[in-house]
Amino acid sequence: MTSPRHRSTARHDGHPGATTPWWRQAVVYQVYPRSFADADGDGLGDLRGVTSRVSYLADLGVDAVWLSPFYPSALADGGYDVDDHRDVDPKLGTLADFDEMTAALHAAGLRVVVDIVPNHTSDRHRWFREALASPRGSAARGRYVFRDGRDGPAGPMSEPPSSWRSLFGGSAWEPVGDGQWYLHAFAREQPDLEWSNREVRDDFLQTLGFWADRGVDGFRVDVAHGLVRDVDNNLHVDFATTHTGAVDDGSHPLWDRDELVDVYREWRQLFDTYDPPLAAVAEASVHPSRRWRYSDPSSLGQAFTFDLFEAAWDAAELRRGVELGLEQLEVGASCTWTLANHDCVRAASRYGLPPDHEQRSHPASKAWVTRHGASPELDAPLGLARARAGVLLELALPGSTYLYQGEELGLREVPDLPPEVLQDPMAFRSEGAEKGRDGCRVPLPWTPTGPSFGFGPDDLEGGAAPSPPHLPQPAWFAGASVAVQEADPTSALHLHRHALRVRRDVLGPEELTWEEAPEGVLHWSRPAGPPQGGGGGEEGGRWHCVVNAGGADGSGAVVPLPAGRLLLTSGPLDDAGHLPPSTTAWVLVP
Ligand code: GLC
Repeated sequence: MTSPRHRSTARHDGHPGATTPWWRQAVVYQVYPRSFADADGDGLGDLRGVTSRVSYLADLGVDAVWLSPFYPSALADGGYDVDDHRDVDPKLGTLADFDEMTAALHAAGLRVVVDIVPNHTSDRHRWFREALASPRGSAARGRYVFRDGRDGPAGPMSEPPSSWRSLFGGSAWEPVGDGQWYLHAFAREQPDLEWSNREVRDDFLQTLGFWADRGVDGFRVDVAHGLVRDVDNNLHVDFATTHTGAVDDGSHPLWDRDELVDVYREWRQLFDTYDPPLAAVAEASVHPSRRWRYSDPSSLGQAFTFDLFEAAWDAAELRRGVELGLEQLEVGASCTWTLANHDCVRAASRYGLPPDHEQRSHPASKAWVTRHGASPELDAPLGLARARAGVLLELALPGSTYLYQGEELGLREVPDLPPEVLQDPMAFRSEGAEKGRDGCRVPLPWTPTGPSFGFGPDDLEGGAAPSPPHLPQPAWFAGASVAVQEADPTSALHLHRHALRVRRDVLGPEELTWEEAPEGVLHWSRPAGPPQGGGGGEEGGRWHCVVNAGGADGSGAVVPLPAGRLLLTSGPLDDAGHLPPSTTAWVLVP
């Protein structure tokens, strides 16, 4: 077990003596453990799999790894249905494996962030089992949100307490057989906790301390804006379709309630007892004007911003996304950038679909829920070019970037998973209307051959065959595998490695100046040098980022670049050294 206490705060920014918290401009790599690497060959990724790939993560050049849930779980929602917040799922390993993984990541200079799921437990959690075995009004039921049903044609209390709909479809209430119903914003297997209950709050403080004492450096807080709700409000609301972005005063009965401020203030007090203080990032889809309540230094310190993520590949929309994200600087928080996670269609596919394609953003889960089949309309090369341009765009912005596993391989969505292999409750609860999020969760390809493209072992001791990956990989994963990309200097993998190295050298203070740019182009510059400022670091000068978004169909004019040293481009320049559409360039101007 390693302890976070007394570790040097300057370890990762590469500038000894710097006192800026490590996470303010960190690049964080999201591992979705079940789909990253499978050490034991059971078809599910595991913690020893992560440990076996630490050198890959270190070579990539990221600063930290965020692990999606690896806690005991029936996997009704990919592990976000947690049976026990203070243990490891036996399918994924043991606490000893966790300690070994954390030690290996730390030894390689990487920080460790774990996902905390405070909105709900699973229905297998000991608390929930106790609640079911206890009568209405009992303390055990008081840890969850139980209410009496309404009388209906089928008898007394036969109707749900309200018409609230779950975010994954269907009613948000489930009957337990004695007239009472419990609330679940997500799947039926994810009963919501009652956060006005002191016991719930104390238990989570213990959970946070448990992982902090095991050496984790920070937390990603799942559905951070959802924990508290005005349940007895009879207003008809729908967890799925009510747009939190429209409400900016805390009056929404489900999301972003004022009571949350106090919860996270208490968490921050705990985090600050560690040296260095623990990092935390809120997953909070709230109105931009309210984000500071989660990202403020007295709160979690960082909140995801999804505006850039939700922008179409269009210069005006991208700029708007950047501007909204930059507002975090005004409140003293660091900005966060992301183009992909385990809830959305992969960027390389999103950006390759025609602009009029029927896509819509899912307001609560941020997912682009309309999953296309093997769409003939998908322009895969265009999608990939834009995803490459997009990653240079986000890495050049002040703040911290969150990359999702497989993004560094330029993976696109696996759109054609057969219905019988789907695992996402979004697919079941919507009765097929949504295909769900499995297409971005297919196990990573590491090699071009083998039964699972190197995700698991090729064979097991004694000659037994390993189990197939829990979601089937398409044949085209061979060409996208790590080994193939390692041998190709033009690959997405090399681009990411190169970009992260260059970024480390030119990373300066968290500020940005917009430069004049023709239509369809974003251009900004930042002082290059140490994050503390102090005028001119190793590089000095200004780091310019020019993004030629181009037209909706990928056409458009080339643009000249500022005079200076070309650091990196996401794709080839033309013969005259001009930047083509769907391409980003970094230039160091003395
Ligand atoms: C978050 C997670 C998502 C999960 C949901 C419920 O939005 O990112 O994967 O389904 O919370 O925990």
